[in-house]
Amino acid sequence: MINFIKNLPKAELHLHIEGTFEPELMFSIAKRNCIDIPYQSVDQLKAAYQFNCLQDFLDIYYQGANVLVQAQDFYDLTYAYLEKCAEQNVKHAEIMFDPQTHTQRGVAFDTVFNGIDKACQDAQKKLNVSTLIIMSYLRHLSEEKAFETLQQSLPYKDKITAIGLDSSEKGNPPSKFKRVFEASIQEGYIPLAHAGEEGHADYIWEALNLLKIVRIDHGNNALQDEKLVEEIVRKDIALTVCPLSNVALQVVDDLKNHPLKKMMQLGLKVTVNSDDPAYFGGQVNQNYIEIQKALNLSKKDIYELARNSFQYSLLDKNRKALYLQELDNYYNLHKD
Ligand code: HPA
Ligand code: ZN
Repeated sequence: MINFIKNLPKAELHLHIEGTFEPELMFSIAKRNCIDIPYQSVDQLKAAYQFNCLQDFLDIYYQGANVLVQAQDFYDLTYAYLEKCAEQNVKHAEIMFDPQTHTQRGVAFDTVFNGIDKACQDAQKKLNVSTLIIMSYLRHLSEEKAFETLQQSLPYKDKITAIGLDSSEKGNPPSKFKRVFEASIQEGYIPLAHAGEEGHADYIWEALNLLKIVRIDHGNNALQDEKLVEEIVRKDIALTVCPLSNVALQVVDDLKNHPLKKMMQLGLKVTVNSDDPAYFGGQVNQNYIEIQKALNLSKKDIYELARNSFQYSLLDKNRKALYLQELDNYYNLHKD
């Protein structure tokens, strides 16, 4: 089963590039930028990765991102992740980045974007991994700040496929960003948002009805509301579920109690993703391997999850069809 998962063609749809920052790379970039990290060693830093909730994690995640200054830093971060994709048979990745994490501390939008974009272009050529870029607004900041970010992104709008909404969920409902989502959609961006990770099911209703999202990041708390589940199924909207993240942030107490299988049984379209792999204990394949074991998923279940990852990607129809064909060929050869 483990080899079946490792070799399975798949896409990753929920990934924060700042969350792929491995401690070793963080220390080396900090050194070349002459920036202090408040930890003596990689081991000491890793020991701090103990989270009781989303906010505990975010505090450390933003601190780690502080050492990213030059376009080359963003390039190195992104390329290192894309090399891991190639190793894991992740054929396609939809990468979120948080421009405000960097612009707030004086790093230009252009610097951030150019580094990430160049790495994506090189990865297509050298690693044969395709990518799309998602720009996420930080929900703990104001809608006005999100509007500023939207303006800064416009020179690159042909290279940014979608917008997202992340950071501290509780107390920052989707309704806070209704106008900036409308304006972003007007500019041609596809709307996505984190919803129902720590926030109540009401936040998912808002994300659907007010922000018009076409895919839900996390969405675990949809299960609190039967009518909401029906609505998500009816609208054929997928959830980007992140099992190891859910355990690390105590959204779920134990992987054995993860609702992923129940979600599938209810007809929800589920995908498996790593979220912030450097912080949550595993890349996407590790997420598949551990959730398979915890819930005793079959090869057919795993195939369905990978199928959803291509089907509910933001790729055009033709490219989806090519990846789905590759996946089907693989499954037909290895299902027994
Ligand atoms: N939730 C909200 N914001 C985030 C996350 C997450 O899981 N990861 C990075 N920013
Ligand atoms: Zn996330």
